[in-house]
Amino acid sequence: MTTEQNQVKLGLDGILAFESSIATIDGNIPELIIRGYDIKEIASSLSFEEMTYLLLYSTLPTGDVLNDFSKELASLRNIPSSVLQVLSTTPKEAHPMAVLRTAVSLIGASDPSADNLTNDDNLRKAINLTAKMPTIVAAQSRIQSGKDPVSPNPALGHSENYLYMLTGEKPDPVDLKAFETTLVLYAEHETNASTFACRVVVGTLSDFYSSVVAGIGAIKGPLHGGAIDDAMRMFMDIGSPDKAKPYVETALSNKQKLSGFGHRVYRAGDPRAAELKDLAREMSTSHGDSQWYEIAQEAEQAMKNSKNIIPNVDYYAAIVLYQLGFQLNMMTNVVASTRIAGWSAHILEQYNNNRLIRPRALYTGERGKKHKSQNL
Ligand code: ACO
Repeated sequence: MTTEQNQVKLGLDGILAFESSIATIDGNIPELIIRGYDIKEIASSLSFEEMTYLLLYSTLPTGDVLNDFSKELASLRNIPSSVLQVLSTTPKEAHPMAVLRTAVSLIGASDPSADNLTNDDNLRKAINLTAKMPTIVAAQSRIQSGKDPVSPNPALGHSENYLYMLTGEKPDPVDLKAFETTLVLYAEHETNASTFACRVVVGTLSDFYSSVVAGIGAIKGPLHGGAIDDAMRMFMDIGSPDKAKPYVETALSNKQKLSGFGHRVYRAGDPRAAELKDLAREMSTSHGDSQWYEIAQEAEQAMKNSKNIIPNVDYYAAIVLYQLGFQLNMMTNVVASTRIAGWSAHILEQYNNNRLIRPRALYTGERGKKHKSQNL
């Protein structure tokens, strides 16, 4: 290899692209720190509203500040009729993430201040989309099952209202706790692919919505957020706990990647996955349906024995969301609807200390070719 080839970091592996005070991961410990707090400490103690405030304003809200912020989010949940119309008229076969991407893009195209890049206006957009994306996802889910969307209830907290819009009923406390913790666990994760995509778009001084749409496009992929839907499909394909080991071994011998396993940064375990494993177990007990958890446990063990590859955040989260009633193809949408908080924090940070993000490529093509004109 030439010196130049040695400098190429495929997938930008290990590259520090910018400074950030939002979050950091140490894959060896392993730990995830968000605005100074260890995710293990805050995952089950913060509400989604508190987590969002922490991400956007760098500090935890208390008292009236929290009440005002929660009320502001609740007041912004309704989505325009034009967006509802898009949700109900897009072809049924459309990928739910493509529909979410279109809905967010429409909200952006309808905002007369879309190209106002000031911090205050971008904060307003961040709070607005954080409030509205769950309404879009819940409406998508209901339309997909042939039901009418349920209007948001401003008297309910963010997570409770989300489940209420999904099922039309107030969730029981165990479901609510599991969902809220899942939303908090997914809200932010440092320089993952979708967050990086958001920052690349901001780097050109394009607008907030274009950046979020890029994030949605990136998180849709099966190597990123799309893995959550695929993990649940895999548990269904496996079918029963006794089939997990041969399933994993056959897949590995065929050089297949198994969804919900592996991570670029965490090699010793994903701290979010540990929390979600506990939640998946609790949900399985409370719903009296442990088959998915048992299949997942067996497959995890088989993967550990064969290749020592860890389950990532999506692995047990798939079971939590499935038990909560989200359809198989809607789970990535849920992930995007909470990651909007983290994306927003990064978008604001990038605008406030921007430099165009523009890496180089090592050219491996030819040179010196001559073009012969066809015009004689
Ligand atoms: N199944 C089987 N083997 C795997 C898996 C997997 N899920 N993940 C990694 N490996 C193996 C690779 O085959 C490779 O083995 P080798 O060295 O023998 O060739 C080794 O582990 C390293 O894997 P890479 O693909 O080089 O790791 P990379 O950091 O590029 O990719 C990724 C990380 C994309 C997450 C990968 O682990 C993967 O494809 N996982 C499945 C998809 C998934 O679950 N994505 C969600 C990630 S979390 C999130 O975004 C929310």
